[in-house]
Amino acid sequence: MHNAAFATRGLNWRYLAFEVDPKHLRAAIEGARAMNFAGLNLTVPHKLLAVDMVDELDDSAKSWGAVNTIKFENGRAIGFNTDANAIVTSLRDDLKVELRGAKVLLLGAGGAGRTAALKIAAENVAELFLVNRTVSKAEAIAAEIKKQFPSVKVSVGYPKAEVDLLLNATSLGLKPEDGSPLDEEQFSLKRTRAVYDMIYKPAETKLLATAKATGCKTANGIGMLVHQGAKAFEIWTGQPAPVAVMRRAVEGCVYAV
Ligand code: ATR
Repeated sequence: MHNAAFATRGLNWRYLAFEVDPKHLRAAIEGARAMNFAGLNLTVPHKLLAVDMVDELDDSAKSWGAVNTIKFENGRAIGFNTDANAIVTSLRDDLKVELRGAKVLLLGAGGAGRTAALKIAAENVAELFLVNRTVSKAEAIAAEIKKQFPSVKVSVGYPKAEVDLLLNATSLGLKPEDGSPLDEEQFSLKRTRAVYDMIYKPAETKLLATAKATGCKTANGIGMLVHQGAKAFEIWTGQPAPVAVMRRAVEGCVYAV
């Protein structure tokens, strides 16, 4: 998606993938700086490690304690996080859901679930319900939200009434044999307007298929992937990202047979 974006903007830049052993991450970042790279993206498990390897952390990286984007500027490495914002942008763009004042049911309390929960709380939702197989992990996140965002009503367990959005941040649905992460005996899909699944491959999980059949608005996580990349593009180039071009390029790669 970045190479497609560079071509669209007429930039003679290249985006390349390198597999780096975590024990060589510092050397890799230093090497990129020495070679005058414009920047880097990092993924698991490097996002947390890189926090201590940059010269400066942007507020986005400070808030989430993780770096997925580095920009080299005047010889300094600046760390950013474009993941959390991408959740909000994708919900707005792909589902037309505004989080402010909304009621949200979030499934999952792993790495992705925690970031989503905190970001959603930071957007001033009215109510947030957290559900996770390991209940203690959802409880720990609820406690963190109560401390950081006291105005948000947060609870653990399925809601009794309707919600505006159900968001899946569990990994259940990645494999073809996986069931749905939602316990429909506890919460019927008829009680939500919209369903977002962070999983984008397969394009339609069982959860999304059932939600669609029930009449909910649905979207998968491809928009999150595109928007974290679009923001990184803007950080590196200082130009607006050609988001539609980037989305087409991603879809071409991810869904190509
Ligand atoms: P990620 O970084 O993608 O969030 P993770 O931190 O391993 O990955 O979290 C995976 C999430 O999917 C967790 O919420 C996990 O539930 P637990 O906290 O109970 O482990 C959830 N998950 C994974 N497999 C599951 C399953 N078979 N049933 C229900 N939840 C599952």
